[in-house]
Amino acid sequence: MSDKVHAVITAVGGYLPDYILTNQELSTMMDTSDEWIMTRIGIKTRHILKDEHEGTSYLGAKAVEELLAKSKTDVKDIDLIICATSTSDHQFPATAASICERVGIKGALAYDIQAACSGFIVGLTTAAALVETGRFKKVIVLGAEKMSFMVDYQDRSTAPIFGDGAGAVLLEPTTEEVGVMDSILHSDPVGVKHLHMKAGGSAMPASHETVDKRLHYIYQEGQAVFKHAVSDMSEASAQIMERNGLKGEDVAWLIPHQANLRIIDAVQRRTGVDHDKVIINIDHVGNTSAASIPLSIWENEKKFKKGDNIILTAFGAGFTWGAVYLKWGY
Ligand code: UT7
Repeated sequence: MSDKVHAVITAVGGYLPDYILTNQELSTMMDTSDEWIMTRIGIKTRHILKDEHEGTSYLGAKAVEELLAKSKTDVKDIDLIICATSTSDHQFPATAASICERVGIKGALAYDIQAACSGFIVGLTTAAALVETGRFKKVIVLGAEKMSFMVDYQDRSTAPIFGDGAGAVLLEPTTEEVGVMDSILHSDPVGVKHLHMKAGGSAMPASHETVDKRLHYIYQEGQAVFKHAVSDMSEASAQIMERNGLKGEDVAWLIPHQANLRIIDAVQRRTGVDHDKVIINIDHVGNTSAASIPLSIWENEKKFKKGDNIILTAFGAGFTWGAVYLKWGY
């Protein structure tokens, strides 16, 4: 116990849509193979929200509903909800607002964070800082993505990578030595040109021409992104461990953003965390962008013990990246 208030995760929820897109099915749609995707990325299957009339808030609301039910939390008690997403239901309002509408949350502050694949750790850091002020007592942070809406299923260099899903955590204040202990976050505009969607925003509004030219999909220069992802996630993880006096053996779990198994392996080697302590779900969910870390937490919640040192690390478009040091709270 101390006087310092920390924000601790007290519950987790998640949701993966039913439809499973296999490498076999992808190889009927484009010139690719299970062998290439497994060796170069490490993905076997990904979940896809097939319903064209449902957006990211559908996925997010499912994760939030599970979280509320599991933690027996009344919607009236939620005072803040932050949704990290790059695939908002609408240009405006925030997807967090649409989730509130679906779930029945009224009166809470609700907003989105756009930090691409790093969105969840940015949201968690922001929310933790707000909880530490004492003004917010029950906060939901989620990552929710319908990536399939912006994947070009004619482009073999991006189509195998992404999947849909949502993960949510409940943050509450505590004076115990658990919760969000530290965080390092950065951005570098060098990344803007390497990873973006060309049309559909205010810089290039949608037109017949932008649709004809297939400009409403993810554009990625894979190798440039790969190099930065490896070095920046490794550096941020190593730095946060060092400044908190943690060696590889002190880390119970390393939870990296799931973009490519080769990136995850490189980060594991650099941090010196045992291979068995690295949470990996990319094989069955693919890259779910901002949902990747909370989905990993959700799927592995039962493995965590109170006091476990957990390092989260992410990298995404912008570029944005960073690491969070958590002490698990239950
Ligand atoms: O989450 C946000 C951050 N995103 C990331 O961290 C993604 C980082 N980048 C990557 O993970 C990898 O760069 C990719 C998975 C996107 C691509 O892997 P790569 O090993 O960098 O492949 P490449 O783009 O250098 O392509 C190598 C070869 C090329 O053929 P040639 O020119 O050598 O004949 C590609 O045309 O592989 C070919 N290729 C494919 N072949 C079969 C590209 N995509 C495919 C495919 N199936 N799906």
